[in-house]
Amino acid sequence: MKTGIIIGATSGIGLEVSRQLVQKGWKLGIAGRRVELLEKIQAELGKNNIEIGFIDIAAENSEDQLKKLIQRTEENFGKIDLIFNVSGIGSQNKDLKLDIELNTVKTNALGFTRMMDTAFQYFTEKGSGHIAAVSSIAGTKGLGAAPAYSATKRFQNTYLQCLAQLATIRNLDIKFTDIRPGFVDTDLLKTGTYPLLMKPTDVAKSIVKAIESKKRKLVIDWKYAIITFFWRLIPDCIWERLKISN
Ligand SMILES: NC(=O)c1ccc[n+]([C@@H]2O[C@H](COP(=O)([O-])OP(=O)(O)OC[C@H]3O[C@@H](n4cnc5c(N)ncnc54)[C@H](OP(=O)(O)O)[C@@H]3O)[C@@H](O)[C@H]2O)c1
Repeated sequence: MKTGIIIGATSGIGLEVSRQLVQKGWKLGIAGRRVELLEKIQAELGKNNIEIGFIDIAAENSEDQLKKLIQRTEENFGKIDLIFNVSGIGSQNKDLKLDIELNTVKTNALGFTRMMDTAFQYFTEKGSGHIAAVSSIAGTKGLGAAPAYSATKRFQNTYLQCLAQLATIRNLDIKFTDIRPGFVDTDLLKTGTYPLLMKPTDVAKSIVKAIESKKRKLVIDWKYAIITFFWRLIPDCIWERLKISN
């Protein structure tokens, strides 16, 4: 039996991963801001499998909120093996509305840092553990249609790399998984049409496999792996002249 914490489990990718991990015998502490949804998921997946906790990663006390959920989950299900941050927001913002940009930074950069640092300190104290996060392919290159989203996703990629190297420097047995999906049919993409849209259930299946094998990085799916491979080869002076809008 394995035990994990999933932050951002109330909908979309996090919800599907929670369902599939419970099917595989995992016990989970799940979190998000919509407590009514957390209660519904707990009823669906069983109180003997799920602990719930309110976490707003953008709040200044989200570190304490995560610690409380970790403590309750440990009391019910034992040692925590995995802390997985799926939570995040994102939208296109070609008009560069400042509130959208700042809120995205507050959640995907500041909130993300709080969750990752709390997880790192926790596993440092425990002696070992696994930290995973859903970032995005949007961090591969700067995307003009969604500046804060794209930049904060690159921030997440780099932050995880920093923590992985820090674990090496400090001789810590902490593993890291950076999940980078392309477009997934969830509430995050409620407006607009998107190419190569993937189903959350399929994406969750790949994520569960990556988590169980503690894979360091995963682009989902193979088509996006090819696309981002070629994106990386494009020189910046050409990239900035491309009209990529979604
Ligand atoms: N959909 C895509 O195409 C796509 C592609 C690549 C990467 N991603 C990434 O995948 C992750 C999950 O997104 P999704 O597509 O599954 O969309 P979603 O259905 O909107 O899920 C977002 C999740 O994040 C949680 N969340 C948002 N802000 C939060 C906050 N301040 N504190 C705590 N939880 C918060 C939400 O819970 P509450 O609202 O209950 O707080 C929800 O559970 C995001 O990080 C997103 O950037 C998505």
